[in-house]
Amino acid sequence: MSRLRPASLFALFLLSILPIVSAKAHGIHVQLSTGTLSVGNGTSGRVMFILSPNGTDPLDDIDDTTTQDYFFGMNVNNLQHNHTIKLSGGTRRNTDTGVFGWPIESLEDIPAGTYRAQAFLKQYDTAKRSDGSVVRVKFPCGDGAPSVSGAGDLASDVIDVQVSGKAQTINLVLNNTVPFPEIQGHEIGGCAQGNYEDTQYLKHVKIRSKKLSEFWGRDMYLGANVLLPYGYNVQDNATRYPVIYSQNHWAEGQGPDSYSTRASFRETWDTGIIPGSANKTSRETPKIILVAFRHETPYYDDSYGVNTANLGPYGDAINEELIPYLEAHFNTIPQPYARIQDGGSTGGWISAASVIFRPDLFGACFSSYPDSLDFHKHQAIPLYTSTSAYTYPNGSEIPSIREFVNGTQQILASTATENHWELTFGTSSRSSLQWDIWNAVFGVQGLNSYPLEPWNKVTGEIYPEAVEYWKSMDLAHHIVTNWNSSLRLGEVLRDRIHISVGTWDDYFLNEGVAEFKSRVEALGGSDWATISILPEKIHGGFYRDMEAWDYLELVKKWVDDHAPNGATPLHANLTTASTRGNIWSEVIGRGGHQAALARQSDPVVKIAGGISGTVGRWDPGMKLVARWVTNNITSSKHGYTWFNVTQGDVLRYAPRKIRHAKDKDEVQLWVTGRKMGYAEETRKSNRVIV
Ligand SMILES: *[C@@H]1O[C@H](CO)[C@@H](O)[C@H](O)[C@H]1NC(C)=O
Ligand SMILES: *[C@@H]1O[C@H](CO)[C@@H](O)[C@H](O)[C@H]1NC(C)=O
Ligand SMILES: *[C@@H]1O[C@H](CO)[C@@H](O)[C@H](O)[C@H]1NC(C)=O
Ligand SMILES: *[C@@H]1O[C@H](CO)[C@@H](O)[C@H](O)[C@H]1NC(C)=O
Ligand SMILES: *[C@@H]1O[C@H](CO)[C@@H](O)[C@H](O)[C@H]1NC(C)=O
Ligand SMILES: *[C@@H]1O[C@H](CO)[C@@H](O)[C@H](O)[C@H]1NC(C)=O
Ligand SMILES: *[C@@H]1O[C@H](CO)[C@@H](O)[C@H](O)[C@H]1NC(C)=O
Ligand SMILES: *[C@@H]1O[C@H](CO)[C@@H](O)[C@H](O)[C@H]1NC(C)=O
Ligand SMILES: *[C@@H]1O[C@H](CO)[C@@H](O)[C@H](O)[C@H]1NC(C)=O
Ligand SMILES: *[C@@H]1O[C@H](CO)[C@@H](O)[C@H](O)[C@H]1NC(C)=O
Ligand SMILES: *[C@@H]1O[C@H](CO)[C@@H](O)[C@H](O)[C@H]1NC(C)=O
Ligand SMILES: *[C@@H]1O[C@H](CO)[C@@H](O)[C@H](O)[C@H]1NC(C)=O
Repeated sequence: MSRLRPASLFALFLLSILPIVSAKAHGIHVQLSTGTLSVGNGTSGRVMFILSPNGTDPLDDIDDTTTQDYFFGMNVNNLQHNHTIKLSGGTRRNTDTGVFGWPIESLEDIPAGTYRAQAFLKQYDTAKRSDGSVVRVKFPCGDGAPSVSGAGDLASDVIDVQVSGKAQTINLVLNNTVPFPEIQGHEIGGCAQGNYEDTQYLKHVKIRSKKLSEFWGRDMYLGANVLLPYGYNVQDNATRYPVIYSQNHWAEGQGPDSYSTRASFRETWDTGIIPGSANKTSRETPKIILVAFRHETPYYDDSYGVNTANLGPYGDAINEELIPYLEAHFNTIPQPYARIQDGGSTGGWISAASVIFRPDLFGACFSSYPDSLDFHKHQAIPLYTSTSAYTYPNGSEIPSIREFVNGTQQILASTATENHWELTFGTSSRSSLQWDIWNAVFGVQGLNSYPLEPWNKVTGEIYPEAVEYWKSMDLAHHIVTNWNSSLRLGEVLRDRIHISVGTWDDYFLNEGVAEFKSRVEALGGSDWATISILPEKIHGGFYRDMEAWDYLELVKKWVDDHAPNGATPLHANLTTASTRGNIWSEVIGRGGHQAALARQSDPVVKIAGGISGTVGRWDPGMKLVARWVTNNITSSKHGYTWFNVTQGDVLRYAPRKIRHAKDKDEVQLWVTGRKMGYAEETRKSNRVIV
């Protein structure tokens, strides 16, 4: 979970009194020239046009809970050099080729006034994946894949705009290239994952991943920031250290924003001494190696550290390529009991998933306020039972972000607001924002080669068949269904999972933790895992809201206790290869392009007590229309016109006299499917003679 900027109460008040009333004139038309800068012939990409209030710049605040900007996005295809891109109007109904606006839908409805404006063009690369699919996505470049204005994107100057309320055209030239982050260190493999300069204790590693390169059909890299403990001596390979793999987000310009790389933490770490306090004498910093990964992806600032059909084998790349490299180059203890996972929010989920899927590799997780651990509550959405991701059955909006003001809950954004805001930055789950990366990580691939979205991002209608595929990433489901399977997770994971969350979590993540807790404890008892639900705590801080050094000492104690000579050694039969989940061949086999092709089928017509037809199998969310075609006559004059059908329908054909009664008629069923992000497709059944 990452939001762009902490919500400011002050800005919220401003937003609520700012009139979002429409002058309802014919609004603005935007013309973007790609100028002389390099736009590849045939380029496809995403154009953004952003208006901000006078006195602010469009990128000053783009967070949906605080911004006062108006965002408009549009997909562009087949751009040529010196092309003019035109944006007009805007609607929620055509997200594929039309303008999509937030919070105002249409460029026609911008209130008259004085604004600042800027336009951007993100160019997509075409990737041919090893499973046979082709996707158009932007590969990030050492900047953590921001949703707009990423390295290499084109941008206009920021200009002042006077919106008159009458029809007017705004001309902008995309004549700036967003710079790449400053390359500070030894450059390996270009900009991907950045290149950083080493310091005495902080080392930077970057490798080319064979597995990811093979999957994406291009060179792919992974990086790690390795913080060495005070007194570490590279020559002394007899002294070896446990490792905390600390999962977190990308921080602009500095790689992953792990607590261990923050300046305030480093000040103490680098001295080796934790200063004393009122009730504690000074003591040595814990002797642990702290590792953060750099794994920006085409869909987000990190990969969620697991194997997924939309991102590729990141779990295997990190665990089977990068970690062995780290263990070969640093003095680590290469044993499960000494490999710990931690992190908060997105990192909370990654650290928990890493242990749950790889008990053979990692000893324990200390996961804080994790993203949805159990999809009975995906944030506040009852994903398995609700028909809508945006409204409850009583009609009220499902909230997404909240804060507590003097103990009273205030909703800062709904799920609908957030999803619509994301849609301005990219369609087909390409916004590089939170709900979209969940679609990419938790879901399978659609027939269109992009994530098979669990709901209609415009209307919120949930597609249960798409949600069904999420179950393999539902960590509670994985544990419960493998409790007694050959994975033996009931026995294997006991005492290894530590989770904490506050009841006032900003993103309702406590709800998924509570679901997880009730499911695993129903089987394993209340001491099977250590799950702390802390009253009135919000999102943030260390595990159980501890002080950093106390927390690290707690982790170190777990390691010492589970060492071979410790009080409760981690038994070898709990770390066998047979405990592994999230196996790449199964993930891609079930969720990749071949699986998407295999789950499709054509309409079929049968003669058996009359003529009947089935509409075939289509991806969830497809809106289908069908028609009967007799003797290849497609005109509607014989009464056969398109009619709405849904998956699973069995259709009856009522014979019509097309020619003479004695003639045989040839009957066929045509079905056309349409869905956002999908090319319209018509499938035709077999022909029967009657
Ligand atoms: C781009 O396409 C245009 C039109 O097809 C053509 O005139 C131009 O030479 C092409 N430029 C490059 C660099 O391929
Ligand atoms: C817009 O902002 C500028 C500088 O902040 C200020 O000088 C100007 O008066 C403002 N215009 C309006 C219409 O508020
Ligand atoms: C771009 O197109 C405009 C007309 O649409 C033309 O005037 C201009 O010379 C062209 N520029 C380049 C660099 O081709
Ligand atoms: C971009 O184009 C605009 C309009 O032609 C011009 O005013 C501006 O100086 C250009 N900026 C750059 C950085 O070239
Ligand atoms: C430690 O380093 C020595 C000397 O370089 C080497 O011979 C030995 O194999 C190393 N031991 C381990 C466990 O890496
Ligand atoms: C230790 O001192 C800190 C303040 O320095 C205080 O917040 C904390 O409650 C004290 N802990 C104990 C166990 O007394
Ligand atoms: C609507 O239902 C939700 C979920 O059960 C509940 O939290 C909320 O309070 C209800 N709202 C109203 C106005 O009844
Ligand atoms: C919260 O409570 C404090 C102290 O009672 C009060 O000063 C403040 O105005 C309250 N804030 C809000 C937003 O109600
Ligand atoms: C697991 O197996 C044990 C022993 O056979 C049995 O008591 C328990 O009910 C099983 N639990 C589940 C969740 O299948
Ligand atoms: C694993 O080892 C422990 C301790 O020896 C034993 O109690 C347990 O039955 C073993 N489990 C299996 C599946 O072998
Ligand atoms: C309809 O068209 C198909 C394909 O062109 C052809 O094979 C078939 O014989 C035609 N049927 C009739 C009744 O014309
Ligand atoms: C068919 O579905 C569309 C929306 O998908 C709807 O507008 C139309 O009214 C439906 N037609 C019939 C006959 O139900």
